[in-house]
Amino acid sequence: MKVLIINGPNMNMLGVREPEIYGSLTYADLVDFISEHAVATGVQVEFFQSNSEGAIIDAIQSAYKNADAIVINPAAYTHTSIAIADALRAVALPAVEVHLSDINSREAFRKISYTADACEKVISGEGFQGYAEALDFLSAR
Ligand code: DQA
Repeated sequence: MKVLIINGPNMNMLGVREPEIYGSLTYADLVDFISEHAVATGVQVEFFQSNSEGAIIDAIQSAYKNADAIVINPAAYTHTSIAIADALRAVALPAVEVHLSDINSREAFRKISYTADACEKVISGEGFQGYAEALDFLSAR
């Protein structure tokens, strides 16, 4: 099983951005963490990170016929992007939305997720572990 792991804007700034919310580990640490879990569970993973909405949509479209599932942290686009939600619906691959922080216990605008409806599951507030849980969910599915 091949899973495309997509991370949206500012996720490349992990370790620097608001460490009190997102912790001190970096995006490279996140990639290492997910890669180790993927090896342990026998899942093949591919990574994509972009700060651009269009590039994320292109990555989702490229998963069509090239990947079996998607794990996506759309970051701030979660709360704004109907286009990313539409792209997820277009490729119709099983997808899990992940957030490091608990989006439901933060500002009111973070409680709205346009992308959640296009995903089978949302995991929020579990830090890096959320990505491992997403892979487990997809491989058990
Ligand atoms: C985030 C939560 C979003 O609200 C925020 O805009 C992010 C990161 C998270 O992983 O907790 O950039 O998706």
